[in-house]
Amino acid sequence: MKIKEIYNLAIQMGIKADFRGGEGIKKFLENKRKQYEKMDEEEKEEFDKEALENPYLDSRIYHIAEDKEVKKVLVGVDIEPAEILMAKEIGDIDLIIGHHPIGKGLAHLADVMDLQCDVLNFYGVPINIAEGLMKERIEEVARGVNSKNHQRTVDAAKLLKMNLMNSHTPCDNLAAKFLKDLIEEKEPERIGDLIGLLKEVPEYREAMKIGAGPKIFVGASENRCGKIALTEITGGSEGSPKLFGKMANAGIGTVIGMHVSEEHKKQAEEANLNVVIAGHISSDSLGINLFLDELEKQGIEIIPCSGFTRISRAK
Ligand SMILES: [Fe+2]
Repeated sequence: MKIKEIYNLAIQMGIKADFRGGEGIKKFLENKRKQYEKMDEEEKEEFDKEALENPYLDSRIYHIAEDKEVKKVLVGVDIEPAEILMAKEIGDIDLIIGHHPIGKGLAHLADVMDLQCDVLNFYGVPINIAEGLMKERIEEVARGVNSKNHQRTVDAAKLLKMNLMNSHTPCDNLAAKFLKDLIEEKEPERIGDLIGLLKEVPEYREAMKIGAGPKIFVGASENRCGKIALTEITGGSEGSPKLFGKMANAGIGTVIGMHVSEEHKKQAEEANLNVVIAGHISSDSLGINLFLDELEKQGIEIIPCSGFTRISRAK
Protein backbone atom coordinates (compact mmCIF):
# COMPACT_ATOMS: atom_id res chain seq x y z
CA MET A 1 0.00 0.00 0.00
CA LYS A 2 1.09 3.57 -0.68
CA ILE A 3 0.91 6.31 1.99
CA LYS A 4 -2.21 7.94 0.53
CA GLU A 5 -4.00 4.55 0.39
CA ILE A 6 -3.20 3.91 4.06
CA TYR A 7 -4.41 7.39 4.97
CA ASN A 8 -7.63 7.04 2.94
CA LEU A 9 -8.29 3.67 4.57
CA ALA A 10 -8.05 5.31 8.02
CA ILE A 11 -10.53 8.02 7.02
CA GLN A 12 -12.97 5.51 5.47
CA MET A 13 -12.82 3.23 8.54
CA GLY A 14 -13.39 6.28 10.75
CA ILE A 15 -16.47 7.26 8.75
CA LYS A 16 -17.85 3.70 8.91
CA ALA A 17 -17.56 3.67 12.72
CA ASP A 18 -18.77 7.27 13.17
CA PHE A 19 -21.79 7.92 15.44
CA ARG A 20 -23.19 10.27 12.76
CA GLY A 21 -23.35 7.53 10.12
CA GLY A 22 -22.50 8.02 6.44
CA GLU A 23 -25.48 10.37 5.95
CA GLY A 24 -24.47 12.53 8.91
CA ILE A 25 -20.92 12.88 7.57
CA LYS A 26 -22.28 13.81 4.13
CA LYS A 27 -24.37 16.59 5.70
CA PHE A 28 -21.38 17.78 7.76
CA LEU A 29 -19.24 18.09 4.61
CA GLU A 30 -22.07 19.71 2.64
CA ASN A 31 -22.38 22.33 5.37
CA LYS A 32 -18.64 23.03 5.10
CA ARG A 33 -19.03 23.49 1.32
CA LYS A 34 -21.94 25.89 1.82
CA GLN A 35 -19.84 27.96 4.25
CA TYR A 36 -16.97 27.95 1.74
CA GLU A 37 -19.17 29.08 -1.14
CA LYS A 38 -20.39 32.07 0.87
CA MET A 39 -16.82 33.27 1.50
CA ASP A 40 -15.19 36.17 -0.34
CA GLU A 41 -12.03 35.56 -2.40
CA GLU A 42 -9.63 36.37 0.43
CA GLU A 43 -11.39 34.04 2.87
CA LYS A 44 -11.47 31.28 0.23
CA GLU A 45 -7.73 31.69 -0.24
CA GLU A 46 -7.14 31.18 3.50
CA PHE A 47 -9.62 28.29 3.83
CA ASP A 48 -8.16 24.79 4.26
CA LYS A 49 -9.66 23.04 1.18
CA GLU A 50 -9.12 19.61 2.72
CA ALA A 51 -12.08 20.46 4.99
CA LEU A 52 -14.39 19.96 1.97
CA GLU A 53 -13.44 16.28 1.61
CA ASN A 54 -12.08 15.19 5.00
CA PRO A 55 -14.36 15.19 8.07
CA TYR A 56 -11.34 14.57 10.35
CA LEU A 57 -9.04 17.57 10.08
CA ASP A 58 -7.08 16.32 13.10
CA SER A 59 -5.77 13.46 10.94
CA ARG A 60 -3.35 14.29 8.12
CA ILE A 61 -0.43 13.36 5.97
CA TYR A 62 2.31 15.78 7.08
CA HIS A 63 5.24 14.83 4.90
CA ILE A 64 5.96 12.51 2.01
CA ALA A 65 9.71 12.31 1.53
CA GLU A 66 9.46 9.31 -0.80
CA ASP A 67 6.16 7.94 -2.08
CA LYS A 68 7.06 4.26 -1.86
CA GLU A 69 5.27 0.99 -1.24
CA VAL A 70 4.90 0.74 2.56
CA LYS A 71 6.18 -2.51 4.07
CA LYS A 72 7.10 -1.44 7.60
CA VAL A 73 5.55 1.25 9.83
CA LEU A 74 6.55 2.76 13.16
CA VAL A 75 3.39 3.56 15.13
CA GLY A 76 3.09 5.58 18.33
CA VAL A 77 0.55 7.51 20.42
CA ASP A 78 2.65 10.71 20.45
CA ILE A 79 5.16 11.21 17.68
CA GLU A 80 7.82 13.77 18.54
CA PRO A 81 11.29 14.41 17.10
CA ALA A 82 12.63 11.59 19.33
CA GLU A 83 10.41 9.06 17.53
CA ILE A 84 11.50 10.41 14.13
CA LEU A 85 15.13 9.85 15.18
CA MET A 86 14.21 6.36 16.41
CA ALA A 87 12.70 5.56 13.01
CA LYS A 88 15.89 6.74 11.33
CA GLU A 89 17.96 4.61 13.72
CA ILE A 90 15.83 1.49 13.09
CA GLY A 91 16.58 2.10 9.44
CA ASP A 92 13.93 0.56 7.20
CA ILE A 93 10.76 2.36 8.36
CA ASP A 94 8.69 3.38 5.32
CA LEU A 95 6.11 5.42 7.22
CA ILE A 96 5.64 6.83 10.73
CA ILE A 97 2.03 6.84 11.95
CA GLY A 98 1.12 8.92 15.00
CA HIS A 99 -2.15 9.09 16.91
CA HIS A 100 -2.39 12.50 18.59
CA PRO A 101 -2.44 15.35 16.10
CA ILE A 102 0.58 17.48 15.30
CA GLY A 103 1.18 20.25 12.76
CA LYS A 104 -1.97 21.48 11.02
CA GLY A 105 -3.85 18.48 12.45
CA LEU A 106 -3.29 19.91 15.93
CA ALA A 107 -4.17 23.42 14.79
CA HIS A 108 -7.53 22.00 13.58
CA LEU A 109 -8.21 19.73 16.57
CA ALA A 110 -11.29 21.73 17.63
CA ASP A 111 -12.88 21.14 14.21
CA VAL A 112 -13.65 17.47 14.98
CA MET A 113 -15.36 18.32 18.29
CA ASP A 114 -18.61 19.03 16.49
CA LEU A 115 -18.99 15.24 16.42
CA GLN A 116 -19.64 15.33 20.19
CA CYS A 117 -22.88 17.27 19.65
CA ASP A 118 -24.19 14.38 17.56
CA VAL A 119 -22.95 11.77 20.05
CA LEU A 120 -24.72 13.61 22.90
CA ASN A 121 -27.84 13.96 20.79
CA PHE A 122 -27.69 10.22 20.00
CA TYR A 123 -27.89 9.58 23.77
CA GLY A 124 -30.86 11.90 24.22
CA VAL A 125 -29.38 15.34 25.00
CA PRO A 126 -31.35 17.91 22.95
CA ILE A 127 -29.19 19.15 20.05
CA ASN A 128 -29.64 22.84 20.98
CA ILE A 129 -28.22 22.20 24.48
CA ALA A 130 -25.36 20.04 23.14
CA GLU A 131 -24.47 22.66 20.53
CA GLY A 132 -24.76 25.58 22.93
CA LEU A 133 -22.50 24.06 25.58
CA MET A 134 -20.05 22.54 23.12
CA LYS A 135 -19.61 25.86 21.30
CA GLU A 136 -17.90 27.44 24.35
CA ARG A 137 -15.73 24.36 24.87
CA ILE A 138 -14.74 24.12 21.17
CA GLU A 139 -13.61 27.76 21.26
CA GLU A 140 -11.65 27.07 24.45
CA VAL A 141 -9.84 24.10 22.84
CA ALA A 142 -9.13 26.14 19.68
CA ARG A 143 -7.51 28.87 21.82
CA GLY A 144 -5.62 26.25 23.86
CA VAL A 145 -3.92 24.59 20.86
CA ASN A 146 -3.08 27.96 19.33
CA SER A 147 -0.03 28.40 21.59
CA LYS A 148 1.56 25.06 20.67
CA ASN A 149 4.72 24.56 18.61
CA HIS A 150 2.74 22.79 15.90
CA GLN A 151 5.45 22.09 13.34
CA ARG A 152 8.23 20.78 15.57
CA THR A 153 7.77 17.09 14.72
CA VAL A 154 6.89 17.81 11.09
CA ASP A 155 10.14 19.76 10.72
CA ALA A 156 12.08 16.81 12.15
CA ALA A 157 10.43 14.48 9.60
CA LYS A 158 11.34 16.85 6.77
CA LEU A 159 14.97 17.17 7.89
CA LEU A 160 15.40 13.42 8.25
CA LYS A 161 13.39 12.63 5.08
CA MET A 162 10.80 10.45 6.84
CA ASN A 163 7.20 9.89 5.72
CA LEU A 164 4.76 11.02 8.41
CA MET A 165 0.99 10.90 8.99
CA ASN A 166 -1.44 10.56 11.91
CA SER A 167 -4.89 9.14 12.53
CA HIS A 168 -6.68 10.55 15.58
CA THR A 169 -10.49 10.76 15.43
CA PRO A 170 -10.83 7.85 12.93
CA CYS A 171 -9.08 5.58 15.47
CA ASP A 172 -11.02 7.02 18.43
CA ASN A 173 -14.23 6.32 16.47
CA LEU A 174 -13.15 2.69 16.09
CA ALA A 175 -12.54 2.41 19.85
CA ALA A 176 -15.91 4.00 20.65
CA LYS A 177 -17.75 1.66 18.26
CA PHE A 178 -15.93 -1.39 19.67
CA LEU A 179 -16.89 -0.44 23.26
CA LYS A 180 -20.47 0.45 22.30
CA ASP A 181 -20.95 -2.95 20.61
CA LEU A 182 -19.37 -4.77 23.57
CA ILE A 183 -21.61 -3.02 26.12
CA GLU A 184 -24.76 -3.49 24.05
CA GLU A 185 -23.97 -7.18 23.71
CA LYS A 186 -23.12 -7.86 27.38
CA GLU A 187 -25.44 -5.32 29.07
CA PRO A 188 -23.52 -4.98 32.36
CA GLU A 189 -25.89 -4.27 35.24
CA ARG A 190 -23.65 -2.73 37.90
CA ILE A 191 -20.54 -0.57 37.70
CA GLY A 192 -18.47 -3.51 39.01
CA ASP A 193 -19.76 -5.63 36.09
CA LEU A 194 -18.85 -2.87 33.63
CA ILE A 195 -15.30 -2.62 35.03
CA GLY A 196 -15.02 -6.43 34.82
CA LEU A 197 -16.14 -6.33 31.20
CA LEU A 198 -13.60 -3.63 30.29
CA LYS A 199 -10.85 -5.61 32.03
CA GLU A 200 -11.45 -8.45 29.56
CA VAL A 201 -10.33 -6.21 26.68
CA PRO A 202 -6.63 -7.06 26.10
CA GLU A 203 -5.50 -3.41 25.80
CA TYR A 204 -7.01 -2.64 29.24
CA ARG A 205 -5.62 -5.85 30.70
CA GLU A 206 -2.14 -4.76 29.57
CA ALA A 207 -2.71 -1.29 31.07
CA MET A 208 -3.68 -2.87 34.41
CA LYS A 209 -0.16 -4.36 34.64
CA ILE A 210 1.28 -0.85 34.88
CA GLY A 211 -1.51 0.52 37.10
CA ALA A 212 -3.41 2.30 34.32
CA GLY A 213 -6.40 -0.06 34.00
CA PRO A 214 -10.11 0.88 34.04
CA LYS A 215 -11.18 2.82 37.14
CA ILE A 216 -14.32 4.20 38.76
CA PHE A 217 -13.87 7.98 38.97
CA VAL A 218 -17.39 8.78 40.21
CA GLY A 219 -19.83 6.28 41.73
CA ALA A 220 -19.32 2.88 43.35
CA SER A 221 -18.91 -0.71 42.24
CA GLU A 222 -22.38 -1.72 43.49
CA ASN A 223 -24.17 1.19 41.73
CA ARG A 224 -26.45 0.25 38.87
CA CYS A 225 -25.17 1.53 35.50
CA GLY A 226 -28.49 2.70 34.07
CA LYS A 227 -28.08 3.91 30.49
CA ILE A 228 -24.37 3.77 29.55
CA ALA A 229 -23.11 6.51 27.23
CA LEU A 230 -19.82 6.67 25.34
CA THR A 231 -19.71 10.43 25.15
CA GLU A 232 -16.08 10.86 26.18
CA ILE A 233 -14.18 8.47 23.90
CA THR A 234 -14.19 10.26 20.56
CA GLY A 235 -14.56 13.82 19.30
CA GLY A 236 -11.12 15.37 19.72
CA SER A 237 -10.91 16.40 23.36
CA GLU A 238 -12.94 16.51 26.58
CA GLY A 239 -16.41 18.06 26.28
CA SER A 240 -17.93 20.74 28.50
CA PRO A 241 -18.24 19.96 32.25
CA LYS A 242 -21.64 21.71 32.20
CA LEU A 243 -22.95 18.86 30.05
CA PHE A 244 -23.01 16.31 32.88
CA GLY A 245 -26.17 17.76 34.42
CA LYS A 246 -27.83 17.75 31.01
CA MET A 247 -26.75 14.15 30.40
CA ALA A 248 -28.31 13.07 33.71
CA ASN A 249 -31.54 14.89 32.72
CA ALA A 250 -31.47 13.06 29.38
CA GLY A 251 -31.56 9.73 31.25
CA ILE A 252 -27.89 8.75 31.13
CA GLY A 253 -26.69 6.88 34.23
CA THR A 254 -23.05 6.15 33.43
CA VAL A 255 -20.47 7.82 31.24
CA ILE A 256 -17.43 5.95 29.96
CA GLY A 257 -14.48 8.17 29.17
CA MET A 258 -10.81 7.94 28.28
CA HIS A 259 -9.90 10.54 30.93
CA VAL A 260 -11.66 13.32 32.88
CA SER A 261 -10.44 16.50 34.53
CA GLU A 262 -11.23 17.43 38.16
CA GLU A 263 -13.85 19.99 37.10
CA HIS A 264 -15.68 17.32 35.07
CA LYS A 265 -15.50 14.92 38.02
CA LYS A 266 -17.09 17.51 40.35
CA GLN A 267 -19.93 18.21 37.94
CA ALA A 268 -20.60 14.48 37.46
CA GLU A 269 -20.78 13.98 41.24
CA GLU A 270 -23.31 16.78 41.56
CA ALA A 271 -25.41 15.22 38.80
CA ASN A 272 -25.23 11.72 40.40
CA LEU A 273 -23.69 10.33 37.23
CA ASN A 274 -21.32 7.38 37.42
CA VAL A 275 -18.07 7.95 35.53
CA VAL A 276 -15.87 5.05 34.50
CA ILE A 277 -12.47 5.82 33.04
CA ALA A 278 -11.42 3.12 30.62
CA GLY A 279 -7.91 4.56 30.36
CA HIS A 280 -6.38 7.07 27.99
CA ILE A 281 -3.40 5.49 26.24
CA SER A 282 -5.00 2.03 26.44
CA SER A 283 -8.17 3.32 24.70
CA ASP A 284 -5.97 5.07 22.13
CA SER A 285 -4.15 1.74 21.60
CA LEU A 286 -7.46 -0.08 21.13
CA GLY A 287 -8.55 2.26 18.32
CA ILE A 288 -5.12 2.24 16.66
CA ASN A 289 -5.04 -1.58 16.79
CA LEU A 290 -8.41 -1.91 15.06
CA PHE A 291 -7.06 0.25 12.21
CA LEU A 292 -3.67 -1.50 12.04
CA ASP A 293 -5.30 -4.94 11.75
CA GLU A 294 -6.24 -3.92 8.20
CA LEU A 295 -2.61 -2.97 7.46
CA GLU A 296 -1.38 -6.25 8.92
CA LYS A 297 -3.76 -8.12 6.60
CA GLN A 298 -1.98 -6.35 3.71
CA GLY A 299 1.35 -7.75 4.94
CA ILE A 300 2.63 -4.54 6.53
CA GLU A 301 4.98 -5.01 9.49
CA ILE A 302 4.14 -2.91 12.57
CA ILE A 303 6.68 -1.61 15.09
CA PRO A 304 4.92 -0.09 18.15
CA CYS A 305 6.46 2.80 20.11
CA SER A 306 5.57 5.80 22.30
CA GLY A 307 3.10 4.13 24.65
CA PHE A 308 1.26 2.20 21.97
CA THR A 309 0.60 -1.49 22.77
CA ARG A 310 0.07 -3.59 19.65
CA ILE A 311 -2.58 -6.31 19.98
CA SER A 312 -3.65 -8.03 16.78
CA ARG A 313 -7.19 -9.17 15.99
CA ALA A 314 -6.27 -9.68 12.34
CA LYS A 315 -6.49 -13.48 12.36
FE1 LIG B 1 -5.69 10.31 23.14
